[in-house]
Amino acid sequence: MSRIVLGVAGGIAAYKSCLLLRLFAESGHNVSVVPTRNALNFVGPATWEALSGKPVSENVWARSWEVPHVGLGRSAELIVVAPATADLLARAACGRADDLLTNVLLTASCPIVMAASMHSEMWLNPATQHNVELLRGRGIVVMDPAVGRLTGPDSGPGRMPDPEDIAALALSALGVPSVAAALAARDYAGLKVLISAGGTHEAIDPVRFLGNASSGKMGLALARAARQRGAEVKLVGANLSLPAPAGVELAPVVSTADLAKEMLGSAPGADVVVMAAAPADFTPVAPSAGKVKKTGDAGLTLELRQTVDVLAALAAQADAGQVVVGFAAETASDSGELLALGRAKLARKGCRLLVLNDVSGGQVFGADENSVLIIAAGNTVEPVAAQGSKDQVAHAILDQALARRAG
Ligand code: CTP
Repeated sequence: MSRIVLGVAGGIAAYKSCLLLRLFAESGHNVSVVPTRNALNFVGPATWEALSGKPVSENVWARSWEVPHVGLGRSAELIVVAPATADLLARAACGRADDLLTNVLLTASCPIVMAASMHSEMWLNPATQHNVELLRGRGIVVMDPAVGRLTGPDSGPGRMPDPEDIAALALSALGVPSVAAALAARDYAGLKVLISAGGTHEAIDPVRFLGNASSGKMGLALARAARQRGAEVKLVGANLSLPAPAGVELAPVVSTADLAKEMLGSAPGADVVVMAAAPADFTPVAPSAGKVKKTGDAGLTLELRQTVDVLAALAAQADAGQVVVGFAAETASDSGELLALGRAKLARKGCRLLVLNDVSGGQVFGADENSVLIIAAGNTVEPVAAQGSKDQVAHAILDQALARRAG
């Protein structure tokens, strides 16, 4: 359980932060809410107190014997400001300390994440952009606003990112200063990243298919992490049940053949290509145009053929500047066998990096946590172990891909 301060500035999106608070609390964290005075015009103290189970104040004079402006900031392990309005960003950039929230920001030494939310004109104004640059330069993670419908009839950049996206990003930085630093520095700015996610469906007839247990969560985490580090991201999603992260271009596909076409067509020009999807290895030779009917007690025999190996095809067409990353789901009795299987697969596929997953017992599918070994072609680098939430593992994979590019 970690101590999180949820700062709420005075924007209409404050109501969405109630959900953010619940997400943090339900993940077992101890959350203190610090709204600004203007935020209380949108959501009153009773709501924040009931949801957090703690007293809430916006000024430094309440419960002054507890010296809250110092205590809260010093003890926080993560601070998330959502929504972060133009005014809050400006006050934070100037180092003002004119209410409890700005005091807390000045006394904190933990990762700070701000989810920008305001009207498009305010976001695009050079004053705001300069403030954001200043804050990022100081290691503060500022999430760009999402694009979409705003409070009035207009739409554009300015919506607060979804609470699920804010929570996933913020929690990935919790206790991992390198993630907070990469997010603040936006070290993928100017790079194009192509990612596949999900499990393919191979049609047997119009209502039945052969599928697999992939949830797509790892690929979604990679897309979210790359986007938040500044990349232009395209996600090729096979039958995803979760939405694509904000700012990510989604190309939905169904079968391995669709996935191959989309990935191979989109890869030229991408700097990093990640095959996190689980494409079916076999597909029915002759899917039936009509629904297959039962005939008496007879069973059904399906003839299958192998599908194209998308990762191997991507690796074969990649130029020297492109880093192709594959995944390997293996069942192994120990880490030595896992590594040997991984090395053999890395050589067979011809990709630059391989993320090794031990799936003995099916412990990865659908889970929010993951533990992997990242190995590189040519045996030149020691395997890198990464574990934690799928978002944290995604950052470790992106770190390795970026290092290979630089190398
Ligand atoms: N993959 C692919 N095309 C396929 C099957 C798999 O591109 N038709 C990719 C996956 O996205 C993953 C990697 O290959 O990045 C390894 O997947 P895995 O299922 O572990 O390996 P397979 O190629 O299926 O090899 P095997 O069944 O022999 O373990």
